Amino acid sequence: MERERSKNFAHLNIGILTSGGDAPGMNAAIRAVTRPALHLGHRVLGVRRGYHGLWRGDIYEMNSRTVSEIIHKGGTFLMTARSKTFETPEGMQKAVNMCKVFEIDVVVAIGGDGTFNGALALSEAGIPVIAIPATIDNDIACTEYAIGYDTALNTAIEAIDKLRDTASSHERCSVVEVMGRHAGYLALHTGVTAGAEVVLIPEVDFDFQKDIVHTLIEDRNAGKNHYIVVVAEGATSALDLAKRIEEATGIESRATTLGYLQRGGSPSWRDRFMASLIGLKAVDCLDARRFNRAICMQNGDIVDLDLKEALTMTKTIDAGYVEYLDRLTM
Ligand code: F6P
Repeated sequence: MERERSKNFAHLNIGILTSGGDAPGMNAAIRAVTRPALHLGHRVLGVRRGYHGLWRGDIYEMNSRTVSEIIHKGGTFLMTARSKTFETPEGMQKAVNMCKVFEIDVVVAIGGDGTFNGALALSEAGIPVIAIPATIDNDIACTEYAIGYDTALNTAIEAIDKLRDTASSHERCSVVEVMGRHAGYLALHTGVTAGAEVVLIPEVDFDFQKDIVHTLIEDRNAGKNHYIVVVAEGATSALDLAKRIEEATGIESRATTLGYLQRGGSPSWRDRFMASLIGLKAVDCLDARRFNRAICMQNGDIVDLDLKEALTMTKTIDAGYVEYLDRLTM
């Protein structure tokens, strides 16, 4: 039987949360859902600390002013968390109960793969959802783009441009580790655009002698006096690799791990723009009561896909870019 509610059914009570690793542009996405939804007469409730806050009831009503002055801020003002409890049947039941207590009709979940899977589980427990892609790894298979990726790329290339200065002054090899535990998009696209001689990604095995030593020796023989090697954290450790390179080639090598630098910072134009378009698409789905959808970029367009179907999709990294390196840096 339809749940009685003191209010009319013309509007929705929309819960919104950010989950998993934060990403620059998450605030812009929260804003791009909240303002248009309020404008259509819906209520928006902020859920702090992701799914952890959902089952704990860390929930409060937001208004247009709540999302003022945030489009340019990195991180997520709703905070985020990884919640083991939510992954248990008891935790899920607590989350469903809390949605009923706060009369939440639908949850907008902003985050990466883990967030999308959590949203699907929540929908299967009876709470409608909309999933918005946001992760600096850009490794969500159903979408060409995830919010945060462009800002992280720019952070990485700005850092590597600086490292190149000192590497050239000291005639060194700078080995730079970027994020990407399981995916090499950050490493690959950073490497190509930062002028790296070598890029190592989790998706492609490498041969130390052929792919690294031989490449660097060839470059040195061609007159290079400094070298940039970009590695994804999921491929290898920059520290270990720098030691091996120095031992094998005699080229003085230094390691830098960019780490969490890539997760912060004011979102770039592209991330603010993408977050705004994606948020507006999410509100279109909400207002049309088109629930359990994943908002994605496909063929350059912002579309909404069935969430369950979206999570069956796969995408493979275009490792062909690695071949560009040989042509661009020899
Ligand atoms: O998923 C984004 C990401 O930054 C990965 O690149 C990285 O390996 C992971 O999050 C780190 O997770 P945490 O913030 O929980 O340490």
